[in-house]
Amino acid sequence: MKEPEHQYPFLLACQRKPAEYTPIWLMRQAGRYMKEYRALRKKFSFLEMCKKPELAAEVTLQPLQKLNVDAAIIFSDILIPLEPMGVAFEFAKGEGPVFHRPIRGMKDVERLRIIEPEEETSFLMEAIRIVRRELEGKVPLIGFSGAPFTLASYIIEGGHSRNYILTKSMMYQDRPTWNRLMEKLSEVLIRYLDAQIRAGVQAIQVFDSWVGCLSPDDYEEYVLPYSKKVMDALDRSVPMIHFGTSTSALLPLMKKAGGNVIGVDWRVDLDEAWARIGYDVGIQGNLDPVVLFGPVDLIKKEVKRILNQAGGRPGHIFNLGHGILPNTPVEHVSALVEMVHEFSSRKK
Ligand code: CP3
Repeated sequence: MKEPEHQYPFLLACQRKPAEYTPIWLMRQAGRYMKEYRALRKKFSFLEMCKKPELAAEVTLQPLQKLNVDAAIIFSDILIPLEPMGVAFEFAKGEGPVFHRPIRGMKDVERLRIIEPEEETSFLMEAIRIVRRELEGKVPLIGFSGAPFTLASYIIEGGHSRNYILTKSMMYQDRPTWNRLMEKLSEVLIRYLDAQIRAGVQAIQVFDSWVGCLSPDDYEEYVLPYSKKVMDALDRSVPMIHFGTSTSALLPLMKKAGGNVIGVDWRVDLDEAWARIGYDVGIQGNLDPVVLFGPVDLIKKEVKRILNQAGGRPGHIFNLGHGILPNTPVEHVSALVEMVHEFSSRKK
């Protein structure tokens, strides 16, 4: 039976409407902790899996066959739109993404291309259409992108960074280049997310994973206007989740930038975070992914604590504070999903 779209617990929570239980999905719910994923990964590289629509669709659906999660998230990566912009990268073994020609000055920024996502990332749009068909309305599908700051940090640093020295130095010392880079990234992200919405995603998550390295003043001055521009430009009928880590000092500003729901990690208590953000937006989070290594009693205690902090208020989406880690026991992940549903059930 197809449920009408407005009755999905996940979409209800995005709108802060009461649902029969607290919905849950998990960042990186498709990935290396699942043997089905590892089996496919033996045959294909990660980027091949992203770029072949049938494979990306298959991997998107893998966790839904094992876990009662309340949403699917399209299998892709925040770095995908960067390659057609002209910044090539590879995933070096054990190192994460590596950009061999990082962006360091105005000349590099001028070279960046504004992409046509329907053509240049057509594989993603096709994967979205396949997943929507195969889901047959079972759960809603989430699309996503990185936020301008987090993507800028990768292409300036050339990969992951500890202190963001090059990124912040561009921000502080070369304002015209920084502004131009953030403008270009924002423009690409608007087109990229808009194309995903047109292909059929029913919610969007914007990942500003590394924005917690900034002071509130710097966030407001150098980042907020661009994140806001992206979220303001998108179709308001599709709910947006705005996520970052180590953001407890930035929460009111992230809300100002946009999002129907703000995603938080475990470094801040959920009740405190929600009070700080205000109850006129939803909240997503915030179990520490390491808790999933067990034991089950610990998971139970933490689930109860987080649900308690949400206080049964409509608008809480249960999630981890960051992605599921490789080697997480799958049975603990499915136990988590069942616990969240059971402990939050409003059917008495
Ligand atoms: O959540 C999902 O299930 C959807 C898929 C998804 C992936 N990456 C798949 C992936 C999503 C939403 C992302 C987002 C992403 N990618 C972020 C933001 C979220 C976060 O974790 O902060 C970032 C920073 C990236 C960039 C990225 N991609 C890194 C740093 C790495 C390497 C680290 C690692 O875990 O190996 C990736 C690779 C990646 N993206 C994998 C997956 C499943 C692992 C690839 C593999 O199979 O080797």
